[in-house]
Amino acid sequence: MKEVYLDTYGCQMNVADSERMELLLFHSGYTRTHEKENADLILINTCSIREKAEQKIFSLFGHLKPLKEKNPDLILGLTGCLAQQEGERLLGKVPHLDLILGPDHVENIAHAVDCIRETGKPMVWNMWDERKNYSIPKLENSSLRHPGASAFVNIIKGCDKFCSFCVVPFTRGREKSREAEEIYNEIRQLVDQGAKEIILLGQNVNAYGKRGMDRPVAFHELLYDIAEIPGVERLRFTTSYPRDFTRELVLAYRDIDILMNHLHLPVQSGNDRILSDMRRGHTAQEYLDLVAMLKSETPGISLSTDIIVGYPGETEEEFQDTLDLMQQVGFSSSFMFAYSPRPGTPAALLPDSVPEPAKHERLQKTIEHQARLTETQAQCFLGKDVEVLIEGRSSKNGYEWKGRNPEYWRMLCSGPSIKVGDRVKIRVEAFSGHTLMGKVSKEEFAGAL
Ligand code: SAH
Ligand code: F3S
Repeated sequence: MKEVYLDTYGCQMNVADSERMELLLFHSGYTRTHEKENADLILINTCSIREKAEQKIFSLFGHLKPLKEKNPDLILGLTGCLAQQEGERLLGKVPHLDLILGPDHVENIAHAVDCIRETGKPMVWNMWDERKNYSIPKLENSSLRHPGASAFVNIIKGCDKFCSFCVVPFTRGREKSREAEEIYNEIRQLVDQGAKEIILLGQNVNAYGKRGMDRPVAFHELLYDIAEIPGVERLRFTTSYPRDFTRELVLAYRDIDILMNHLHLPVQSGNDRILSDMRRGHTAQEYLDLVAMLKSETPGISLSTDIIVGYPGETEEEFQDTLDLMQQVGFSSSFMFAYSPRPGTPAALLPDSVPEPAKHERLQKTIEHQARLTETQAQCFLGKDVEVLIEGRSSKNGYEWKGRNPEYWRMLCSGPSIKVGDRVKIRVEAFSGHTLMGKVSKEEFAGAL
């Protein structure tokens, strides 16, 4: 068999795309290698969400050049969002590239590689897939996919929101949802292969059901139906968009036992003028009202978010509103970013007015503020028993196993006769950042499986 080396940057969608490409390539005669030097095919699945992510990738391709010179048969491919956005232009920037393939063509990866082998010519595949439906067909003999205890399942692709700063609508195209039946079948298969937790995936999962389906199903209905599939023990989804968050979805948190007590709900800013400039479609108060409703229906729900500091025109006072909102919500963790202009987005036409040192300082303050919020919550877990789904081995800090609790804190733990896929009760004895640590509480298993 030939060997493929695959590197992934960026979000969970990219991780899922890489796994799919690995599977498709396996069916086409490639096994995965972790040594670039031996590979017949090198694929870098790229991210273009921020400028830094992009720069990293260009420098990486510089390092790959000698391998290509040594082995002219090596196929070098750049996939993902940067491929979609830059397309043919990349051939000018990285002349030793053979393949440029956007996220809409993940299903064509094996075919594209075959074409390049046959013709010896570079190939650019970044036109949009114009079909109405979004399908990830089941492959015969997909036993290669060892899903682990927690598995991601794509339910929707693209984004129609066009937030002023964001390239995603340009790199991943319009929203299209997968037929519910196809999703249920994939989940059944994952459960058969050992998955206990399902994480539904999309840029904007709560827009699920609006486009691309012959038999539309609303997002909350999808959740109720998945909860009925035997063997699904935990359910999560990411990422959702505040304005599309319905009352029914809030109630689903209350009513579906296996829907875990955590929600990632990006807010970006706590200031109304900035939110409006960002075209987020809601005010800070509307976000807080939604959070209040969630907390009252599902006490103890933990919330995490995405934050951008230094958006064009953001003043110190406006930035302070973001810190205040973080405090009011009490996020358990946040992904925090300094704004960087992305080509083609409306915000990129505005002067990038907050100087870099000020952006950096705001980012630092946000990180420190979040660290305090995280610590306050971590302290509440000390001495308590929490349920952990065991996902794998860990060698860190003398704890043997790692996993997550329902609130999506990373967990390190040890105890007798634990195995992957168990749900065990752990007594929390220490924490570090967003990680809790502990030992099996007495011999209590929440359900040794
Ligand atoms: N679907 C998600 C966002 C996906 S992009 C949502 O609903 O908001 C992931 C995060 O990257 C965004 O939430 C945002 O915080 C950050 N981000 C996107 N574009 C950015 C930019 N130009 N500069 C800095 N951060 C950015
Ligand atoms: Fe980006 Fe906004 Fe969609 S942040 S992914 S355009 S919801």
